[in-house]
This record gives sequence, C-alpha cells and structure tokens, in this order.
Amino acid sequence: MEYQKLFIKINNGLQEFHDLGQVADYIPELGKVNPNKFGVHLTTVDKQHFGFGDANEKFSIQSISKVLALTLAYTLEDENLFKRVGVEPSGTPFNSLFQLEADNGIPRNPFINAGAIVISDVLVSHLKNPKEDFIQFVQQVAENSEISFCERIVASEKSCGFRNMALANLMKSFGNIKNDIDEVMDFYFNLCSIEMTCQELSKTFLFLANHGVCPFTNTIILTPSKTKRINSIMQSCGFYDEAGEFSFKVGLPGKSGVGGGIVAIHPEKYSIAVWSPKLNKKGNSNKGIEFLERFTSETKISIF
Ligand code: DON
Repeated sequence: MEYQKLFIKINNGLQEFHDLGQVADYIPELGKVNPNKFGVHLTTVDKQHFGFGDANEKFSIQSISKVLALTLAYTLEDENLFKRVGVEPSGTPFNSLFQLEADNGIPRNPFINAGAIVISDVLVSHLKNPKEDFIQFVQQVAENSEISFCERIVASEKSCGFRNMALANLMKSFGNIKNDIDEVMDFYFNLCSIEMTCQELSKTFLFLANHGVCPFTNTIILTPSKTKRINSIMQSCGFYDEAGEFSFKVGLPGKSGVGGGIVAIHPEKYSIAVWSPKLNKKGNSNKGIEFLERFTSETKISIF
C-alpha cells in the first residue's frame, strides 16, 4: 500500500476543510500550542514507517497514555481490575462527575478521567516507585529511553485540576481510591503529561496491532486475549461521548487526547497516529478524525 502518496492526497483534499475546532485551553500550557500543526505517522506490523507533516514533533499525548496505564494495570491485576472499573461506554464527557455518584464510585470505563484515576491508584499500590517504574515501562514499550513526563504540563494541570480532584475525592468517599489522594493525582497528572511524536506514538502502540508483542523487539507486553480486550475497550470507549461516531466514521479502535493526538489500531496491519491540536466540542481532534475517516474510506480497509 502506498501510504505516503495517500497521506499527500488526503492532506490536499483537507485544504478545503474548515476546521472550526479550538485548542484545549482549560489546561493553560496546552493553549499555547500552534493550532495549525498537523502530523501523521503509520507503522506496519512488518516494521515499515510512513510519516507526513509534523510527524516528528513532540506533543502532549494526554489521555492516550491511559491505554498504557491500563495495559500495565491489567498485567498486574488480571480480571480483578474490572471489579473497580467498568468496560461500558459512558456516553458522557471525559471529565463528567454525575454518573459516578449513581454508580457508587465505580467509573464506567478506564478511559474517562475517573477510570484513569482508579487505574492510577492501582499502579500506585503495585509499583515501588510509581512514576519512575511507569515511565520505564512506557520507555520499554516505546523502545525509547527518552520518552518522559513534562513537568511544565504537570504544573499547569495541577493549577486547574479541580474537576479531577473532585472525581478522586468522590471515589475516595466510596472506598474506590485506596492511596493518598495527592499521591494518586500526582501520578495521574504525570501520566497525562507524557510527550511523544506521531512516529513514537504509532510505534509504541504497535503491540496492540500484533497480539500484544512488540514487533521490533519481540517483547511480550500483553497476552493475545488481553490485547483483544484493550482494543475492544478502545473501540467502545476511546472517544468518550463520541465513541460511536468515531467507530461509525473510521471503523478502527482508537484513543484520543486533548493535546490533539489520536492513535488508531488495525489489528495485524498497522498502528497510525495523527496530531492536530484543534478539538471538537467533545474534546477530540477535529481534523484528526476527518483525516482518519478519509484514510479508511480511501484504503477501503477497516476492521468491519
Ligand atoms: O485530566 C484531563 O482533563 C486531561 N489531562 C486529559 C483529558 C483528555 O485527554 C481527554 N481526551 N480527549
């Protein structure tokens, strides 16, 4: 497949796309990003790389890292993990509070903020040096020892993380946060601050397209069954109250972040990462979704 030519063709077609999205500015540091950045990178399971635009520029992957946190927590807790967090689409915004009270402090899924905070709590319980051990895990999966947290983003999120603190406190009141709230939230904000390029992101997520094994190193990250399940949660919950729409338009499991990144997986074929910082009203990259819709329409290949 001539992915490179296809990227150019789709990008040319997108010149007429009026992107009415807005850069996330509820986290002050994210509001400073150039809104017109655009990058895409695809890595195949047979280790071919295809990049376009700003594919080698670092950005804040934000909620995309929740998939990596879930991956590690799932290997540590197995199915017990799902006693504390569900696997159902929420149908609500990523930072919504109201459902959590009705559900007795059990978040609908691991990708809404509440779910990722529970996963953070699980990792804080298991890991000796939670932040250090987690970033080492990410570096191992990424096969890149330079992947790191961004202290600037952590400080910026902490300065305005009132909703996230409210979610954590509500869950603590139901007994679904076991550790000290400040420690769990410090971990959560660091998790969200990880920076990667599109190239790094697509390579890092390739294990999900390859039954849980990194094709570059043959390292087993997850069992095939757990890999299937994480892809399945991405399919139904990766885009919050727009998960159905993403599935309808693109037809691949994926995950978004408010930094404007999206990663999508085609099992046994590739992992593709797109970055365009302007977000739609649901907090997902506007042009990123449009690009991926055109991509699977042009290739006529999706999981359906
Ligand atoms: O906690 C937050 O609000 C952000 N650090 C992450 C939210 C996010 O990326 C939602 N994704 N579209």
